[in-house]
Amino acid sequence: MSVPAPRGCGLRTLDLKGDERGSLISIEGSRDVPFPIQRVYYIFGTQLNVSRGFHAHVDLTQLAVCVSGSCVMALDDGSVRQEFTLDRPDTALLIGPMIWREMHQFSPDCVLLVLASRWYDEADYIRNYEDFKDKVAALR
Ligand code: TYD
Repeated sequence: MSVPAPRGCGLRTLDLKGDERGSLISIEGSRDVPFPIQRVYYIFGTQLNVSRGFHAHVDLTQLAVCVSGSCVMALDDGSVRQEFTLDRPDTALLIGPMIWREMHQFSPDCVLLVLASRWYDEADYIRNYEDFKDKVAALR
């Protein structure tokens, strides 16, 4: 029996529009991602052995794509934890709201592109894992 992915999360394959010149991938808000895109950011130049994240968002959906290099994203919905290796520009990881995330094992050339459903809002962050667990339990 396969283990379910964390709630609202999963890998998606992006359409590759390649030809003899090379490759192109387009991601359209509300069409290729299930939300209107309000923010785009990217993480790069991550130092060796540095991990990032260690937080959840109350009301934010994101799509993460390693457009160069690789990293490992650990997602946890309070019950299920799963690690996803992102190492292809045509593979995206959908991350629903109320998901604890950690990013590990960044390759030196990693560029992690993230599309987000909302503007940056520090008030939307849960930065303590025990608080996250309590809030998830209260929702269920
Ligand atoms: P942070 O969310 O802590 O990064 P990570 O979770 O990847 O470890 O963000 C690092 C800094 O960048 C912090 O000062 C907030 C700022 N920031 C923005 O201003 N806008 C954004 O969209 C994001 C994601 C971060």
